[in-house]
Amino acid sequence: MKAVTFALMAMALGAAAPAGASEQLAKDKQCMGCHAIDKDGAAPAFKNIAAQWKGKKGAESTLSITIRRGSKAAGGPHWGKATMPNTDERPQVSLAEGKKLAQWVLKQ
Ligand code: HEC
Repeated sequence: MKAVTFALMAMALGAAAPAGASEQLAKDKQCMGCHAIDKDGAAPAFKNIAAQWKGKKGAESTLSITIRRGSKAAGGPHWGKATMPNTDERPQVSLAEGKKLAQWVLKQ
């Protein structure tokens, strides 16, 4: 019985780790300079972005294009505010990082 509890705890911890890593990645890439998780500011809140896109076809790939190359490359802006700049004005985001960040935003 104890072994089962420990196995479940280990699984829960394992599942939590990637989310934390993605949040750190968002900080490293200066996303939080414009975005917050749950408050609109210079840029829409990640929670509102998630609510808008969750379950939509192609959400992950559209968002990862925005994340890597800015709003215009993804057919935006979609929020009627400022556009998200391309990576001339912020840290480069790789294909794998863009995918990871898009998945993370959709989970907020
Ligand atoms: C210089 C400010 C700025 C930075 C830095 C920035 N964003 Fe944005 N972001 C914006 C703005 C403004 C919008 C709204 C653009 C629009 O209307 O599509 C936006 C939109 C988005 C969207 C929604 C796109 C859509 O089509 O709905 C996502 C997802 C996103 N940003 C993720 C990120 C991530 C992840 C990072 C870090 C790699 C980041 N942003 C860094 C300003 C920024």
